[in-house]
Amino acid sequence: MGSPLTVDLQRLEPVDSPLTADEVARGLRLGDLAPPERPYVIVNMVATADGRATVDGRAGPIGNEADRQLFHHLRTQVDAVMAGARTVTIEQYGRLVRDPALRDKRRHEGLAGDPLAVIVSGRLDLPTDVPLLRDEHSRVVVITGSAARLEGCSAHVEYLRSDETTVDLGVALHALRSEHGVRSVLCEGGPTLNAALLREGLVDELFLSVAAKLDGGPDALPIVRGLPVAGAIGMDLVWALRAGSDLFLRYRLR
Ligand SMILES: NC(=O)c1ccc[n+]([C@@H]2O[C@H](COP(=O)([O-])OP(=O)(O)OC[C@H]3O[C@@H](n4cnc5c(N)ncnc54)[C@H](OP(=O)(O)O)[C@@H]3O)[C@@H](O)[C@H]2O)c1
Repeated sequence: MGSPLTVDLQRLEPVDSPLTADEVARGLRLGDLAPPERPYVIVNMVATADGRATVDGRAGPIGNEADRQLFHHLRTQVDAVMAGARTVTIEQYGRLVRDPALRDKRRHEGLAGDPLAVIVSGRLDLPTDVPLLRDEHSRVVVITGSAARLEGCSAHVEYLRSDETTVDLGVALHALRSEHGVRSVLCEGGPTLNAALLREGLVDELFLSVAAKLDGGPDALPIVRGLPVAGAIGMDLVWALRAGSDLFLRYRLR
């Protein structure tokens, strides 16, 4: 048998009544989906229509207001928010949930007001003036292959250490679950950390905002950058939303 002559294409519009970002990212109960040995891991990224995750070296110019709102509301749905050392530094991470109303939303979801911040930094070459590390309200776990400590932090900082500079992220996630009670993790990139997680089969879902913009820059990063995973990873579409000309896709990895 050859390929079928027709495939099913579903029109995503017209859609039913509009939703706010608050309604979209509410009651997801991601921790309930976690396997016993590690947290459930979702990755949230924004890209241009030509697949770039940075414009002029930053993610900020890519997304629109809907992306920003979803970004913040997704932070209300997880025990921990994780990012690679370069993202934390370049994007100048601060307190993860600054809006008291969003901290209340977290508490209504049965979560702590502030999520645990998780920084992955093999070499621990982080500037300590990153606002997150200066924030006294923040609890931070640093996953690292270094024996060093970050000095002069006002945040409460703990370490999950590995003997190798390239950390086994499966072991680290297991420790996040067993030692810190983390059942759900939102990974906000960057592309290098995403690739490492994907290679180890540790990503459960991808939330991808596709901005109706073209960048074309030769040096801009894609949303995943690293050693290729074995074969392409298939995904199932969970939802597709639209705000203006931008798309918001939620995929579950197979
Ligand atoms: N479009 C978006 O949604 C989006 C989201 C996030 C970031 N970004 C952009 O992406 C760029 C940063 O991404 P990036 O790929 O360059 O860096 P990244 O993934 O943020 O951080 C890379 C660093 O994470 C650490 N790391 C990752 N995996 C590791 C492992 N298995 N073991 C040990 N350490 C590990 C290493 O830190 P050490 O070097 O300390 O060893 C590595 O250098 C920025 O320009 C940012 O603006 C875009």
